Amino acid sequence: MHSPSPRSLVDLPIRRLNRGDLVPCADLCEDRGWPRDEHRWGLLLSAGTGYGIDAPDGKGLAATCLTMPYGSEFTAVGMMLVAGRYARQGIARRLMRHVMETAGDTPLALYATEQGQPLYENLGFSPVGRAERVGGRFETIGSGGSGSTSPASSVLPSAASSVTTRPAAADDLQAMVRLDLPVFGTDRTHLLARLPAFADRLQVAEDHGDLVGYAALWPSGQAEVVGPLIARDTATAQALVAALAATTDRPLRADVDARHKELLGWLVERGLEPLSRTTVMTYGIPDLPGDAAHRFAPLTVATG
Ligand SMILES: CC(C)(COP(=O)(O)OP(=O)(O)OC[C@H]1O[C@@H](n2cnc3c(N)ncnc32)[C@H](O)[C@@H]1OP(=O)(O)O)[C@@H](O)C(=O)NCCC(=O)NCCS
Repeated sequence: MHSPSPRSLVDLPIRRLNRGDLVPCADLCEDRGWPRDEHRWGLLLSAGTGYGIDAPDGKGLAATCLTMPYGSEFTAVGMMLVAGRYARQGIARRLMRHVMETAGDTPLALYATEQGQPLYENLGFSPVGRAERVGGRFETIGSGGSGSTSPASSVLPSAASSVTTRPAAADDLQAMVRLDLPVFGTDRTHLLARLPAFADRLQVAEDHGDLVGYAALWPSGQAEVVGPLIARDTATAQALVAALAATTDRPLRADVDARHKELLGWLVERGLEPLSRTTVMTYGIPDLPGDAAHRFAPLTVATG
C-alpha cells in the first residue's frame, strides 16, 4: 500500500455535494480547526452549489468548495477547504480552476483567509476590501441601554434617534428584499427567504414605520454570528446588534466590513475582540456591487 502521488491527487474527480454530505463537510471543517457548522452547510448546500473531492483513503472528503449564484452579477465562492493530510498538493488550485471554468463569464467574489489569498492572487483575483472578524461576549454599557430592554423590541440608546427594532414578521420579507437590493447590489431573495428558518433571530429596525435595517443571528460552534447586518447608518446597526445580543448568553461573532470603523470600535468597547481578518477579492469585476456604506456584515463570508 502506498499513498497516491501528487499527480494522481490532482486528477481525482470533482463531484457535486448534496445534503447527504453534511457530516463529511463538517468533519473537514473540524480537520481545519473551523466550527463544524452543519447548520450553515445545510443552508449553503440548499441555496448554492457545493463541490467536493472524495478522499482517496476513503475517509470522507479531501476538499470542498461552495458557490453561491447571484444571477449574472457575480457568484460568491466560499468554504474552500482541503484536509490537512492532502495540503499543498494542488487540490485547492484544481477546485478553484473548476469553479472558474464553470462560472464562465460570470464574475467571482470571495473572502480570502491568509492561507487562501496567495492561491487566489495567483489565479488572477484582486483584493478590493477587508473584513474584520470580531468575537466575544457582548457587554451592555450604561443604564437605559438596550441590554435592559426586552429582546422583543428595543429603542436605540441615543435619545435623538427614533429608530426602534423588533423581531421580523413573515410579511417583512418584501421590505427586507427592497432594502437589501441596492445595498447588496443584486437580488438575494433565495437566501433572505431562508433566513427565518436558518436564523435563531431575525430583527428589523424601523424609523417612523419605514424599514431602515435588518440583521440575523445564527449559531456557529459555541458562538452566535451576527449577519447579514444591513442598516441605514451606524446607529441603526448598533441598535440591531444590541437587540440581538440581548437574546443570547453565548459569545457573538461578526465579520464586519473594515470600512465600518465606528461599528468595529463600538463592538470592541463592548467586549468583542479582533479575531482574524479576511481579504475581499474579486475576479472579473473591479469591486463588489452595491453600497458598502450600508453593508456592515455579510450573512457569512461564504455567501459574499
Ligand atoms: C487554503 C487551502 C484551501 C489551500 O489548499 P491546498 O490544496 O493546500 O492549496 P494548493 O496545494 O492548491 O496550493 C495552491 C497555492 O496556494 C498557496 N498556498 C496553499 N497553502 C498555503 C499556505 N498554507 N500558506 C501560504 N500559501 C499557501 C500557494 O500559493 C500554493 O501554491 P504553491 O504550492 O505553488 O506554493 C488550505 O490550506 C486550507 O484548507 N486551509 C484552511 C481553510 C482556509 O483557509 N481556506 C481558504 C478559505 S478562503
